[in-house]
Amino acid sequence: MTHQDFLKALVCPLTGGPLKISEDGKTLTSEDGTLYEVGDTGIVNMLYPKELLPADAREQYLYDQAFLRYDKGVSWVFETLNHSDEAATRKFFIDLMELKPGMKALEVGAGTGKDSALILDKIRPGGTAVLSDLSPNMLKLAQEKLSTEDLNVHYFLGNGSYLPFPDDTFDAVFHFGGINTFSERKRAFDELTRVVRPGGKVVVGDESVAPWLRKHPSYATLLKANPLFRAEVPLEDVPANIENFKLHYVFGNAFYVMDYRVTAKAPEVDIDLPIPGKDFVDNWRLRAEKAED
Ligand SMILES: C[S@@+](CC[C@H](N)C(=O)[O-])C[C@H]1O[C@@H](n2cnc3c(N)ncnc32)[C@H](O)[C@@H]1O
Repeated sequence: MTHQDFLKALVCPLTGGPLKISEDGKTLTSEDGTLYEVGDTGIVNMLYPKELLPADAREQYLYDQAFLRYDKGVSWVFETLNHSDEAATRKFFIDLMELKPGMKALEVGAGTGKDSALILDKIRPGGTAVLSDLSPNMLKLAQEKLSTEDLNVHYFLGNGSYLPFPDDTFDAVFHFGGINTFSERKRAFDELTRVVRPGGKVVVGDESVAPWLRKHPSYATLLKANPLFRAEVPLEDVPANIENFKLHYVFGNAFYVMDYRVTAKAPEVDIDLPIPGKDFVDNWRLRAEKAED
């Protein structure tokens, strides 16, 4: 997929409607006249909304300030967490995506590209990777660091809650490290799932100390020192059209990563299936009446 083909594949992040590419290839315009600019290094600014919600604007600012010290800082965090093996854990994440050479992958919140390098290795030769982040400085650093031979790699600045792609575009989508603070987290889960084809994988993770560790002294200190670790796993935000959901705790059980397969439609309970016998009816009625008390 050439850069031009990538631009043609982008849609309005709000409505999914078409975008018009200018003759010089420097801007994309949506039906309502909103402009999206293509930067000098090919990073397309698809941020939506143009004025980010306050919590997202704050995250963007923080990461834009921290980009040069991020890699060292985040590795230190993982070292404090039971002296975790960061490289092995990140490999575990990317294995969950079930990528193969030639596949098409999206990473949201790619940051400085720590996991992106592993994604690229899985899909070469011939694959397509689309890497995105909210922070221009983090994404620029990723672009500078990554080696992209044998592949098509495209970059865009984007809000994970508004993805500029049609349904079923990717074989797998990955996000690690930011979703707990997204202003529109439920919307982000819906978007991450929507752009994956049925049968493809979604892998998402972030901070959340496992419930059984929260009162242990060193973890209680961690929770006090950094409120990000107090987050609950956002199970209620997972969309209905998925199967094979798995939840893993990693990095000293202070982070979660979930993986699931996308399905064409949500599962249903067949409430019209004839009941197999009177005993069964009585038993369920008894339990239902008891639960109402
Ligand atoms: C902790 S960093 C993780 C970066 C990388 N995934 C890693 O594991 O090293 C979180 C990243 O999420 C990005 N981010 C925060 N809010 C976002 C949003 N609403 N949409 C997309 N990215 C977002 C930040 O800019 C930052 O680069």
